[in-house]
Amino acid sequence: MSRYYFPPEFVAELRERLDIVEVVGDYVSLVKSGANYKGLCPFHGEKTPSFMVHRGKGIYHCFGCGVGGDAISFIRRIENLTYPEALQRLALRAGMDITPYEQARPAAGGGEAVPGTEKKQLAAVVNRAHEFYRQQFKRALGGRLGGYLKQRGISPSAAERFQLGYAPEGWDNLLRALKNRADLDTAVKAGLIVRKENGKTFDRFRDRLLFPIRDGAGNVVGFGGRTLSGAEPKYLNSPESALFAKRRLLYDLYHAKRAIGEQRQVFLVEGYMDALSLYLHGIDNVVATLGTALSREHLALVKRYAERVVVFFDNDAAGVQAAFRSLAIFLSAGIFPAMVVMPAGIKDPDQLVRELPPEKVREVLHDQVDLFDFYLGEQEKKTRGQGYAARLQVLQEVVAMLAVLPERSMAGLALRSVAERLYLAEEVVLEVFRRESRKAGGRLATREVAAGGEPAAVPAGPPSAVVDPEEMLLGILVRFPAFLDDFELDEELFSREENRSLWRFLLVCRRQGLDPLAGLAGDESREELLARYAQLEMMALPEEESIAAQALGDCRRQMKRRYWRRREEDLDREITACTDERLLTELLRRKMAIKSEYC
Ligand code: UTP
Ligand code: MN
Repeated sequence: MSRYYFPPEFVAELRERLDIVEVVGDYVSLVKSGANYKGLCPFHGEKTPSFMVHRGKGIYHCFGCGVGGDAISFIRRIENLTYPEALQRLALRAGMDITPYEQARPAAGGGEAVPGTEKKQLAAVVNRAHEFYRQQFKRALGGRLGGYLKQRGISPSAAERFQLGYAPEGWDNLLRALKNRADLDTAVKAGLIVRKENGKTFDRFRDRLLFPIRDGAGNVVGFGGRTLSGAEPKYLNSPESALFAKRRLLYDLYHAKRAIGEQRQVFLVEGYMDALSLYLHGIDNVVATLGTALSREHLALVKRYAERVVVFFDNDAAGVQAAFRSLAIFLSAGIFPAMVVMPAGIKDPDQLVRELPPEKVREVLHDQVDLFDFYLGEQEKKTRGQGYAARLQVLQEVVAMLAVLPERSMAGLALRSVAERLYLAEEVVLEVFRRESRKAGGRLATREVAAGGEPAAVPAGPPSAVVDPEEMLLGILVRFPAFLDDFELDEELFSREENRSLWRFLLVCRRQGLDPLAGLAGDESREELLARYAQLEMMALPEEESIAAQALGDCRRQMKRRYWRRREEDLDREITACTDERLLTELLRRKMAIKSEYC
């Protein structure tokens, strides 16, 4: 087993990339409840949910059994992993490359290949193949390749920016460039070399223009290869491997993420050429799927950078079909995507930017429509002039789409449009929606449907009414950290060491202007403190600042009383055990003093 050391920056990025609702959602059915998500705690048996997850803060807490923490601690606990194992697991999920953090193996270690090392070997060979194909690209420019690039408007600087390669004609160009047997085996695993059952090997990519595909860390993990000769298929891609998972990769995301983050918007196109061509025309917030359907993983990737996702697919039946198919995925991720409406006669984004003047392109890109609305319009056309039964059938389909939304409140407006567009009463639409929501399965089944599409408000917080004043006090200080600036409290008053540590920690953070969560999360030695913090974050507390301030004073008074009562109990024990007359008088005198403190 390899050892890994993950630096804090890595852990911080990992936390940022993870969506705790998705991580926990793999194990627990979560339902939106106020600002939190709520479900049955997987760590203890319960019938009513007291397990809460807060997406924005990336934390969870169970009010039933008291466990809590961040995504890392959740995976650790539920899968029973060590800290580094949990990080590895989550890094894989988040598409982060962990190979740079592998520690040198002790000399005596066994030679078993582990997934991490296999990926590393694959990456090394893919990388070398990329260099080889880059050289071939330069050598081939004088010939047919150069003509092809020109015809498609791919300038030398674009070729450089996209690091395009060329796989020459012939069956063994790469084969001969691979130096040894081990490399050959790895290249077979990476799909660069095909090995037949009879043992014969040959190059997968022949006479193709290669688009290198990078993972989130910028490493080339595979290729998309466009034929220059009209051979089938038009595009040949690297096959799936430990390194190359189309479901988790988006073409050019590594470069485009910055622009996407700045513009808060991403254009999702179908083709490598579309992405390249748009870039050449100054549109750089673009990613492409790799010839596969859109996946939840793809959306998790873009959601990190984009607020708005714009579908920019081909202008043909297949493109529209693909857009409609993607709609269900979008909605289940809680996204209502926008869509670019292509002018008639333009078949894809590449053609759009190449054939229309920039002002016209700008206009087309700007005039986006809502994809669900567009879909609804198509459905409306389908029902036009049809009877009620046909309209209900379409209604069923349309509403089934909305039933997968993670929050039912999101369906509200859309349901109203559905009623309008299909000329149906809103009650009918809502009724069907209720039924479809129930059908949509486990995650949605428990969701109560309120008329009007508003979510049934479930108060966050502990089911029990009795709140410990220490917890309440800390909870208020977590929620309103500014109170810490002039709040005096003797830390002796805390009865539990964990509360005292948290109090000190909050004070230090406040004084140094640090975000407590950033300081706690992802730090193994502070897992307990984090669990406590997660609990406090999710407490039901007064929302109003002035009420919170009052409650704060009350808590302090209660803590004082409890403190003195504890002192008194200690004294009582001493008094009972005391045999010395003089000491007894002193103890009784102290007891009187204590009484006057809190009575
Ligand atoms: P398109 O057929 O729309 O390609 O496929 P394109 O972008 O118009 O290609 P050019 O302009 O003719 O060069 C879109 C995407 O679908 C995948 C590729 O990822 C491609 O970029 N695809 C297409 C394949 O994987 N295999 C194919 O045979 C065709
Ligand atoms: Mn195309």
